[in-house]
Amino acid sequence: MAGVTDVIFRKLCKELGADVMVTEFVSAEGIMQADHRTRKYTDFSDEQRPVGVQLFGADGERMGEAARKIIDWKRPDFIDINFGCPVNKVVSRNGGSSLLKDCPVLAAVASGVAKAVGDQVPVTAKIRIGWDQKTVNAVEVARILEDCGMEAIAVHGRTRAQGYGGEADWEVIDAVARAVSIPVIGNGDLTSGEDVMRRKAETAVSGVMIGRAAMQHPWVFREAKHFLETGERLPEVTSEERWALVLRHCRLAVEGGRYGDERQTLTAMRSRLMAYCKGFPGAREIRQRLCQVTSVSEVEDLAAGSLAMEESVVA
Ligand SMILES: Cc1cc2nc3c(=O)[nH]c(=O)nc-3n(C[C@H](O)[C@H](O)[C@H](O)COP(=O)(O)O)c2cc1C
Repeated sequence: MAGVTDVIFRKLCKELGADVMVTEFVSAEGIMQADHRTRKYTDFSDEQRPVGVQLFGADGERMGEAARKIIDWKRPDFIDINFGCPVNKVVSRNGGSSLLKDCPVLAAVASGVAKAVGDQVPVTAKIRIGWDQKTVNAVEVARILEDCGMEAIAVHGRTRAQGYGGEADWEVIDAVARAVSIPVIGNGDLTSGEDVMRRKAETAVSGVMIGRAAMQHPWVFREAKHFLETGERLPEVTSEERWALVLRHCRLAVEGGRYGDERQTLTAMRSRLMAYCKGFPGAREIRQRLCQVTSVSEVEDLAAGSLAMEESVVA
C-alpha cells in the first residue's frame, strides 16, 4: 500500500505473521529513470521474503524493462502489476485501474512484463472488479491475464468508481476464482480471523489479502492465522504491546532515515501513528497530540501518560 507498506512496516507485519507481502507500488518510468526515491520503494530485507515488487504503468515494453531492472537489483520473489489503483494521477496516465476499461492495453502490459521477465520470477496482477458498476468485468480481465502468463491474481472486490466506499463484492471475487485455473487471492474488508475463515469457506479463493486492517492493527495476521488453525481467538493485544509497537515503529523509522531527520520522520508518520490508536483508551486526545509530534521522546511521553492513566482508571 502506497505510503504505508514501506520496508519498516513490512518488517513489523512479517513478525506478526504476514506470509506474503508486496512493496508500495512503483512507477515503471521512475525505475527506468533510475530515480533514487523510486528505487527506495523497492527496498526489502531477506527476512521479509517472499516479497513482490508492484509496478504500475501503461507501456508493456517499458514496464518489462523496469521489471528486469528490479530483478537485477533486488531479485524479489515475484513482480506484481497494478491494475487497481483508483488515484487520478495514475489513472490519467492510463495506469492502474484505467486499464480495466481497455483490455487490449491491459493485455499488452501484462504480456510485455511476462515476456521480459521470462522464467526468472513469477509475474502476478492485482485488479479491481471493474471500472464502475455498469462495467464489472473482472472475470473477463482475469481470463485475459491468465492467457498473458500471470501466475496469480489478487482481486479487490470494488470497482474503481467505489474508491474505498461501499462493500467489497465477494461474489465477483468467487466468480473470478472459479473462472481461471491460476490462484486467485481475495481482498476487501477483512478485519479478523472470522472474516478470513468465512471468505475462504464461501468462495473458491486460494488465499486472502489484508490491507487497511493491518494499518490499524498489524496483529491481524497473527490473530487470523491462529483462528484458522485453532478456531479460537487470541487474547486481545494489551495497551503495553500496542504502545511498544508504536514506539518501535518510530525508532526504526528514525534509524532507517528514509523520511529525513527525526522531526521529518515523525511528521511523515503522524497519520500512520494515528491509525494505530483506534481503540486506545482516550484515543481522541491521543490522536490530537499525535498529529503534532516531532520527536520519539514526545511519543514516549504520550505512551507513558496513556498507560499511567489506564492503570489509574483500573485501580
Ligand atoms: C493508503 C492505501 C494505499 C494503497 N496502495 C495500494 C498500492 O500501492 N497497490 C495496491 O495494489 N493496492 C493499494 N491499496 C489497496 C489495498 O491494497 C486494498 O486492495 C484495499 O485497501 C482493499 O483491501 P482492505 O479492505 O483489506 O483494505 C491501497 C490502499 C490504501 C488504503
